[in-house]
Amino acid sequence: MYTHLRDLLFKLDAETSHEFSLDLIGAAERLQLLKFFMSDIPPNPVEVMGITFPNPVGLAAGLDKNGDYFNALGLMGFGFVEIGTITPRPQAGNPKPRLFRIPEAQAIINRMGFNNKGVDHLIAQVKQRRYKGILGINIGKNATTPVEKAADDYVICMQKVYAHADYITVNVSSPNTQGLRDLQFGDSLNRLLETIKIEQAKLQVLHGRYVPVAVKIAPDMDSEAVSHVAQTLLAQDIDGVIATNTTIGREGVETFQTSEETGGLSGFPVRDKSTRVIRALYAELGDKLPIIGVGGITDGESAAEKIKAGAKLVQIYSGFIYRGPALIGEAARAIVDLKNINSL
Ligand SMILES: Cc1cc2nc3c(=O)[nH]c(=O)nc-3n(C[C@H](O)[C@H](O)[C@H](O)COP(=O)(O)O)c2cc1C
Repeated sequence: MYTHLRDLLFKLDAETSHEFSLDLIGAAERLQLLKFFMSDIPPNPVEVMGITFPNPVGLAAGLDKNGDYFNALGLMGFGFVEIGTITPRPQAGNPKPRLFRIPEAQAIINRMGFNNKGVDHLIAQVKQRRYKGILGINIGKNATTPVEKAADDYVICMQKVYAHADYITVNVSSPNTQGLRDLQFGDSLNRLLETIKIEQAKLQVLHGRYVPVAVKIAPDMDSEAVSHVAQTLLAQDIDGVIATNTTIGREGVETFQTSEETGGLSGFPVRDKSTRVIRALYAELGDKLPIIGVGGITDGESAAEKIKAGAKLVQIYSGFIYRGPALIGEAARAIVDLKNINSL
Protein backbone atom coordinates (compact mmCIF):
# COMPACT_ATOMS: atom_id res chain seq x y z
CA MET A 1 0.00 0.00 0.00
CA TYR A 2 2.84 2.40 0.90
CA THR A 3 4.51 1.90 -2.51
CA HIS A 4 1.38 3.11 -4.35
CA LEU A 5 0.97 6.06 -2.02
CA ARG A 6 4.65 6.90 -2.35
CA ASP A 7 4.49 6.88 -6.16
CA LEU A 8 1.74 9.50 -5.94
CA LEU A 9 3.51 11.57 -3.29
CA PHE A 10 6.80 11.53 -5.23
CA LYS A 11 5.04 13.35 -8.08
CA LEU A 12 4.97 16.42 -5.83
CA ASP A 13 8.09 18.46 -5.09
CA ALA A 14 10.01 16.98 -2.16
CA GLU A 15 9.11 19.49 0.55
CA THR A 16 5.42 19.69 -0.38
CA SER A 17 5.20 15.92 -0.40
CA HIS A 18 7.00 15.77 2.95
CA GLU A 19 4.51 18.18 4.56
CA PHE A 20 1.52 16.52 2.91
CA SER A 21 2.64 13.06 4.10
CA LEU A 22 2.97 14.27 7.68
CA ASP A 23 -0.51 15.81 7.47
CA LEU A 24 -1.82 12.49 6.14
CA ILE A 25 -0.22 10.59 9.01
CA GLY A 26 -1.73 13.08 11.49
CA ALA A 27 -5.18 12.71 9.89
CA ALA A 28 -4.87 8.90 9.83
CA GLU A 29 -4.20 8.95 13.58
CA ARG A 30 -7.25 11.11 14.26
CA LEU A 31 -9.41 8.83 12.10
CA GLN A 32 -7.88 5.75 13.74
CA LEU A 33 -6.67 4.48 10.36
CA LEU A 34 -3.03 4.26 11.33
CA LYS A 35 -3.32 0.57 12.19
CA PHE A 36 -3.43 -0.18 8.45
CA PHE A 37 0.08 1.28 8.11
CA MET A 38 1.45 -0.34 11.24
CA SER A 39 4.49 -2.53 10.97
CA ASP A 40 4.62 -5.86 12.83
CA ILE A 41 7.21 -5.27 15.54
CA PRO A 42 8.73 -8.03 17.69
CA PRO A 43 9.16 -6.89 21.31
CA ASN A 44 12.86 -6.52 22.10
CA PRO A 45 13.34 -4.28 25.14
CA VAL A 46 16.80 -2.70 25.40
CA GLU A 47 18.11 -0.63 28.29
CA VAL A 48 20.18 2.34 27.14
CA MET A 49 21.07 5.55 29.03
CA GLY A 50 18.98 4.25 31.94
CA ILE A 51 15.83 4.08 29.76
CA THR A 52 14.06 0.90 28.67
CA PHE A 53 13.30 1.11 24.94
CA PRO A 54 10.53 -1.33 23.83
CA ASN A 55 12.44 -2.02 20.61
CA PRO A 56 15.71 -0.57 19.30
CA VAL A 57 14.43 1.11 16.11
CA GLY A 58 13.73 4.83 16.43
CA LEU A 59 12.76 7.74 14.24
CA ALA A 60 15.70 10.11 13.66
CA ALA A 61 15.49 13.87 14.19
CA GLY A 62 14.38 16.26 11.46
CA LEU A 63 11.15 14.67 10.24
CA ASP A 64 9.06 16.18 13.02
CA LYS A 65 11.05 19.31 13.83
CA ASN A 66 8.28 21.07 15.77
CA GLY A 67 6.63 18.22 17.64
CA ASP A 68 3.48 18.55 15.53
CA TYR A 69 3.24 14.89 14.49
CA PHE A 70 4.96 12.69 17.08
CA ASN A 71 1.68 11.38 18.57
CA ALA A 72 0.88 9.84 15.18
CA LEU A 73 4.45 8.83 14.27
CA GLY A 74 4.80 7.15 17.65
CA LEU A 75 1.93 4.77 16.82
CA MET A 76 3.73 3.36 13.78
CA GLY A 77 5.88 0.94 15.76
CA PHE A 78 9.02 2.96 16.52
CA GLY A 79 10.76 2.07 19.78
CA PHE A 80 11.39 5.80 20.24
CA VAL A 81 10.81 9.06 18.45
CA GLU A 82 13.22 12.01 18.32
CA ILE A 83 11.72 15.41 17.55
CA GLY A 84 13.59 18.64 16.60
CA THR A 85 16.06 20.05 15.86
CA ILE A 86 14.49 22.93 17.71
CA THR A 87 16.12 26.32 18.35
CA PRO A 88 15.32 28.97 20.98
CA ARG A 89 13.62 31.32 18.50
CA PRO A 90 11.52 30.40 15.43
CA GLN A 91 13.41 30.67 12.14
CA ALA A 92 12.53 30.23 8.46
CA GLY A 93 15.55 28.16 7.42
CA ASN A 94 17.13 28.41 3.98
CA PRO A 95 15.25 29.57 0.87
CA LYS A 96 13.33 26.88 -1.06
CA PRO A 97 13.99 24.58 -2.84
CA ARG A 98 16.09 23.01 -0.10
CA LEU A 99 15.06 19.34 -0.12
CA PHE A 100 15.97 17.01 -3.01
CA ARG A 101 15.33 13.31 -3.58
CA ILE A 102 17.58 10.96 -5.54
CA PRO A 103 15.33 7.87 -5.67
CA GLU A 104 17.74 5.84 -7.83
CA ALA A 105 20.24 5.98 -4.97
CA GLN A 106 17.65 5.90 -2.12
CA ALA A 107 19.16 9.22 -1.11
CA ILE A 108 18.11 12.70 -0.02
CA ILE A 109 20.03 15.98 -0.05
CA ASN A 110 18.74 18.67 2.28
CA ARG A 111 19.77 22.16 3.26
CA MET A 112 16.70 22.95 5.35
CA GLY A 113 18.76 25.01 7.83
CA PHE A 114 16.78 24.23 11.00
CA ASN A 115 13.48 25.70 9.78
CA ASN A 116 11.39 25.48 12.94
CA LYS A 117 8.69 27.20 14.98
CA GLY A 118 10.91 27.67 18.05
CA VAL A 119 11.16 25.83 21.34
CA ASP A 120 8.03 27.40 22.90
CA HIS A 121 5.86 25.97 20.13
CA LEU A 122 7.42 22.52 20.55
CA ILE A 123 6.81 22.62 24.30
CA ALA A 124 3.15 23.56 23.79
CA GLN A 125 2.82 20.50 21.53
CA VAL A 126 4.64 18.17 23.90
CA LYS A 127 2.46 19.26 26.82
CA GLN A 128 -0.51 17.73 24.98
CA ARG A 129 1.34 14.45 24.57
CA ARG A 130 -0.78 11.36 23.92
CA TYR A 131 2.19 9.24 22.79
CA LYS A 132 3.28 7.07 25.72
CA GLY A 133 6.60 5.91 24.26
CA ILE A 134 10.14 7.27 24.54
CA LEU A 135 10.54 10.85 23.32
CA GLY A 136 13.92 12.40 22.53
CA ILE A 137 14.17 16.15 21.94
CA ASN A 138 16.98 17.37 19.68
CA ILE A 139 18.25 20.91 20.27
CA GLY A 140 20.37 23.34 18.26
CA LYS A 141 21.31 26.98 17.88
CA ASN A 142 19.67 29.76 15.86
CA ALA A 143 21.42 30.73 12.63
CA THR A 144 21.84 34.32 13.88
CA THR A 145 23.50 33.31 17.15
CA PRO A 146 27.27 33.62 16.76
CA VAL A 147 29.01 30.30 17.21
CA GLU A 148 30.95 31.68 20.24
CA LYS A 149 27.57 32.12 21.95
CA ALA A 150 26.14 28.75 20.83
CA ALA A 151 26.20 27.36 24.38
CA ASP A 152 23.62 30.00 25.43
CA ASP A 153 21.14 28.64 22.85
CA TYR A 154 21.67 25.02 23.94
CA VAL A 155 21.16 26.05 27.58
CA ILE A 156 17.92 27.93 26.77
CA CYS A 157 16.59 24.88 24.93
CA MET A 158 17.68 22.49 27.69
CA GLN A 159 15.90 24.55 30.33
CA LYS A 160 12.68 24.49 28.31
CA VAL A 161 12.67 20.87 27.14
CA TYR A 162 14.13 19.17 30.23
CA ALA A 163 10.82 18.48 31.98
CA HIS A 164 9.31 16.95 28.85
CA ALA A 165 12.10 14.86 27.31
CA ASP A 166 13.09 11.26 28.00
CA TYR A 167 16.49 12.18 26.58
CA ILE A 168 17.98 15.31 25.02
CA THR A 169 20.16 15.34 21.90
CA VAL A 170 22.74 18.08 21.42
CA ASN A 171 23.05 18.50 17.66
CA VAL A 172 26.49 19.79 16.67
CA SER A 173 26.56 18.10 13.29
CA SER A 174 24.06 19.57 10.82
CA PRO A 175 25.94 20.93 7.80
CA ASN A 176 23.37 23.66 7.07
CA THR A 177 24.04 26.04 9.96
CA GLN A 178 27.26 27.96 9.51
CA GLY A 179 29.92 27.10 12.06
CA LEU A 180 27.78 24.49 13.89
CA ARG A 181 30.02 21.55 13.03
CA ASP A 182 33.09 23.40 14.37
CA LEU A 183 31.61 22.71 17.81
CA GLN A 184 32.57 19.04 17.36
CA PHE A 185 36.27 19.74 17.39
CA GLY A 186 39.08 20.76 19.72
CA ASP A 187 38.38 22.69 22.87
CA SER A 188 35.02 23.99 21.51
CA LEU A 189 33.42 20.59 22.17
CA ASN A 190 34.95 20.35 25.61
CA ARG A 191 33.71 23.79 26.65
CA LEU A 192 30.22 23.27 25.21
CA LEU A 193 29.78 19.91 26.94
CA GLU A 194 31.09 21.28 30.22
CA THR A 195 28.37 23.96 30.14
CA ILE A 196 25.74 21.37 29.20
CA LYS A 197 26.73 19.04 32.06
CA ILE A 198 26.56 21.92 34.58
CA GLU A 199 23.07 22.79 33.30
CA GLN A 200 21.98 19.14 33.38
CA ALA A 201 23.05 18.87 37.03
CA LYS A 202 21.11 22.04 37.95
CA LEU A 203 18.01 20.83 36.09
CA GLN A 204 18.25 17.42 37.74
CA VAL A 205 17.98 19.07 41.17
CA LEU A 206 15.21 21.40 40.00
CA HIS A 207 13.07 18.64 38.48
CA GLY A 208 14.12 15.72 40.69
CA ARG A 209 14.80 13.63 37.58
CA TYR A 210 17.95 12.82 35.57
CA VAL A 211 17.44 13.29 31.83
CA PRO A 212 20.30 11.80 29.80
CA VAL A 213 22.07 13.88 27.16
CA ALA A 214 23.34 12.42 23.87
CA VAL A 215 25.57 14.23 21.36
CA LYS A 216 24.92 13.82 17.63
CA ILE A 217 27.98 13.83 15.39
CA ALA A 218 28.76 14.01 11.67
CA PRO A 219 30.09 11.18 9.51
CA ASP A 220 32.77 13.38 7.94
CA MET A 221 35.54 12.72 10.45
CA ASP A 222 38.84 10.90 10.23
CA SER A 223 39.73 8.36 12.89
CA GLU A 224 41.76 10.92 14.84
CA ALA A 225 38.76 13.26 15.07
CA VAL A 226 36.46 10.39 16.10
CA SER A 227 38.93 9.42 18.79
CA HIS A 228 39.04 13.00 20.10
CA VAL A 229 35.23 13.18 20.20
CA ALA A 230 35.03 9.83 22.01
CA GLN A 231 37.58 10.86 24.64
CA THR A 232 35.81 14.20 25.20
CA LEU A 233 32.41 12.50 25.60
CA LEU A 234 33.90 10.15 28.19
CA ALA A 235 35.74 12.92 30.03
CA GLN A 236 32.56 15.01 30.21
CA ASP A 237 30.43 12.04 31.28
CA ILE A 238 27.98 12.42 28.41
CA ASP A 239 25.26 9.75 28.37
CA GLY A 240 25.23 8.69 24.70
CA VAL A 241 26.38 9.47 21.17
CA ILE A 242 24.26 9.48 18.01
CA ALA A 243 26.27 8.62 14.90
CA THR A 244 25.67 10.00 12.39
CA ASN A 245 24.08 13.04 10.81
CA THR A 246 24.11 13.66 7.03
CA THR A 247 27.38 13.86 5.07
CA ILE A 248 28.80 16.75 3.06
CA GLY A 249 30.44 14.15 0.77
CA ARG A 250 28.85 13.05 -2.51
CA GLU A 251 30.24 9.51 -2.88
CA GLY A 252 27.65 7.25 -4.46
CA VAL A 253 25.61 10.02 -6.10
CA GLU A 254 28.26 11.73 -8.29
CA THR A 255 26.50 10.67 -11.49
CA PHE A 256 23.24 12.42 -10.60
CA GLN A 257 22.84 16.11 -11.38
CA THR A 258 21.09 16.67 -8.04
CA SER A 259 24.37 15.82 -6.32
CA GLU A 260 25.48 19.36 -7.16
CA GLU A 261 22.96 20.76 -4.69
CA THR A 262 24.53 22.07 -1.47
CA GLY A 263 23.48 20.34 1.74
CA GLY A 264 23.70 17.12 3.70
CA LEU A 265 23.39 13.79 1.91
CA SER A 266 21.50 10.97 3.63
CA GLY A 267 20.16 7.53 2.82
CA PHE A 268 21.97 4.61 1.23
CA PRO A 269 25.11 6.57 0.21
CA VAL A 270 25.91 7.49 3.85
CA ARG A 271 25.54 3.90 5.09
CA ASP A 272 29.20 2.84 5.07
CA LYS A 273 30.55 6.16 6.28
CA SER A 274 28.21 6.14 9.24
CA THR A 275 28.99 2.49 10.06
CA ARG A 276 32.74 3.26 9.97
CA VAL A 277 32.26 6.08 12.49
CA ILE A 278 30.22 3.77 14.75
CA ARG A 279 32.94 1.10 14.57
CA ALA A 280 35.65 3.65 15.37
CA LEU A 281 33.60 5.04 18.27
CA TYR A 282 32.99 1.56 19.65
CA ALA A 283 36.71 0.79 19.50
CA GLU A 284 37.28 3.78 21.84
CA LEU A 285 34.17 3.62 23.98
CA GLY A 286 33.39 -0.09 24.28
CA ASP A 287 30.31 -0.42 26.46
CA LYS A 288 31.17 2.64 28.58
CA LEU A 289 28.96 4.95 26.56
CA PRO A 290 26.11 3.78 24.30
CA ILE A 291 26.05 4.51 20.56
CA ILE A 292 22.84 5.14 18.63
CA GLY A 293 23.51 4.22 15.00
CA VAL A 294 21.91 6.17 12.16
CA GLY A 295 22.72 6.70 8.50
CA GLY A 296 21.67 4.72 5.45
CA ILE A 297 19.44 2.11 7.07
CA THR A 298 17.24 1.00 4.18
CA ASP A 299 16.62 -2.67 5.08
CA GLY A 300 17.07 -5.25 7.83
CA GLU A 301 20.67 -5.99 6.92
CA SER A 302 21.80 -2.37 7.17
CA ALA A 303 20.06 -2.07 10.56
CA ALA A 304 21.77 -5.21 11.89
CA GLU A 305 25.10 -3.94 10.52
CA LYS A 306 24.90 -0.88 12.81
CA ILE A 307 24.32 -3.14 15.84
CA LYS A 308 27.23 -5.39 14.79
CA ALA A 309 29.43 -2.28 14.56
CA GLY A 310 28.65 -1.44 18.20
CA ALA A 311 25.37 0.51 18.26
CA LYS A 312 22.80 -0.33 20.96
CA LEU A 313 19.91 1.41 19.19
CA VAL A 314 19.33 2.58 15.62
CA GLN A 315 17.37 5.39 14.00
CA ILE A 316 15.95 5.82 10.50
CA TYR A 317 14.96 8.78 8.37
CA SER A 318 15.58 8.54 4.60
CA GLY A 319 14.85 4.80 4.55
CA PHE A 320 11.48 5.57 6.14
CA ILE A 321 10.71 8.03 3.32
CA TYR A 322 11.58 5.44 0.65
CA ARG A 323 10.29 2.26 2.30
CA GLY A 324 7.55 3.50 4.63
CA PRO A 325 6.54 1.90 7.94
CA ALA A 326 7.41 -1.64 6.73
CA LEU A 327 11.07 -0.73 7.31
CA ILE A 328 10.51 -0.35 11.06
CA GLY A 329 9.45 -3.99 11.42
CA GLU A 330 12.08 -5.23 8.98
CA ALA A 331 14.86 -3.47 10.93
CA ALA A 332 13.47 -4.62 14.29
CA ARG A 333 13.23 -8.25 13.13
CA ALA A 334 16.76 -8.24 11.70
CA ILE A 335 18.09 -7.01 15.06
CA VAL A 336 16.18 -9.74 16.93
CA ASP A 337 17.56 -12.35 14.49
CA LEU A 338 21.09 -11.07 15.09
CA LYS A 339 20.58 -11.35 18.85
CA ASN A 340 19.31 -14.93 18.45
CA ILE A 341 22.29 -15.92 16.30
CA ASN A 342 24.71 -14.37 18.79
CA SER A 343 23.13 -16.23 21.70
CA LEU A 344 23.46 -19.64 19.97
C1 LIG B 1 15.29 16.39 5.32
C2 LIG B 1 16.16 16.03 6.51
C3 LIG B 1 16.15 16.86 7.64
C4 LIG B 1 16.96 16.55 8.72
N1 LIG B 1 16.91 17.37 9.83
C5 LIG B 1 17.65 17.04 10.92
C6 LIG B 1 17.58 17.84 12.08
O1 LIG B 1 16.83 18.82 12.16
N2 LIG B 1 18.36 17.47 13.14
C7 LIG B 1 19.18 16.38 13.11
O2 LIG B 1 19.84 16.09 14.11
N3 LIG B 1 19.24 15.59 12.03
C8 LIG B 1 18.51 15.90 10.94
N4 LIG B 1 18.57 15.10 9.83
C9 LIG B 1 19.50 13.95 9.81
C10 LIG B 1 18.82 12.63 10.17
O3 LIG B 1 18.30 12.66 11.46
C11 LIG B 1 19.84 11.48 10.04
O4 LIG B 1 20.85 11.66 11.01
C12 LIG B 1 20.49 11.39 8.67
O5 LIG B 1 19.56 11.70 7.66
C13 LIG B 1 21.08 10.00 8.38
O6 LIG B 1 20.09 9.02 8.47
P1 LIG B 1 19.29 8.41 7.21
O7 LIG B 1 20.33 8.00 6.21
O8 LIG B 1 18.48 7.30 7.77
O9 LIG B 1 18.44 9.52 6.68
C14 LIG B 1 17.78 15.39 8.71
C15 LIG B 1 17.77 14.56 7.58
C16 LIG B 1 16.96 14.85 6.50
C17 LIG B 1 16.98 13.94 5.30
